[in-house]
Amino acid sequence: MDFIKEIQEIVKKELCSVNSCHDWEHTERVYNLAMHIGKIEKADLEVLALASLLHDVGRKAEEETKGKIDHALKGSEMAREILEKYGLNEKKIQKICHCIETHRSRANRIPESLEAKILYDSDKLDSIGAIGIGRIFSFAGHIGAKVHNKGVNLNEVEEYSLDDTAWREWELKLKHVFSRIYTDEGKRIAKERHEFMEGFFDRLNKEVDGEL
Ligand SMILES: [Fe+2]
Ligand SMILES: [Fe+2]
Repeated sequence: MDFIKEIQEIVKKELCSVNSCHDWEHTERVYNLAMHIGKIEKADLEVLALASLLHDVGRKAEEETKGKIDHALKGSEMAREILEKYGLNEKKIQKICHCIETHRSRANRIPESLEAKILYDSDKLDSIGAIGIGRIFSFAGHIGAKVHNKGVNLNEVEEYSLDDTAWREWELKLKHVFSRIYTDEGKRIAKERHEFMEGFFDRLNKEVDGEL
């Protein structure tokens, strides 16, 4: 794949203005994880490499339209256009587009191929563990939320409010990522990252209560 460097540059440019949770560095981490899992699970690494590099290429359109455009669908269209220019064969393009279309957990599209499952896992794994902690505190800071709000009824908290904290994101969403991972290697990594994050919030709550 002599054009992979050029694809990296295209994606880097596309992602330079998006929120730090989905920036080029996120794509790089997802790519690294996908390659690691892909080797162990014996996936088609060419499909996986291109799918992971291009998976969030439609992000800018979703952010600019405040969520009206689904970045997974837009990204799949953009990926097809880019890959056709480089002369990739139609079968591979279809496989890559399937991975990109199904990587978004809120959409009701199910990853069916091994490569799509690995991309899904890699993308979700980047939201937990040490990097997950970094991402949720960074996001809370970005929207001006508090550092911590143990004791608040999290179900009553509105998104993007002062109480939309890292703690809320963990309790309501990220705690469940672990149970939605498809591949065996993904599950092994998810278990470790989940336990690390659980331990972090246990400790944070003890510190807040003056116990540590
Ligand atoms: Fe995405
Ligand atoms: Fe992503």
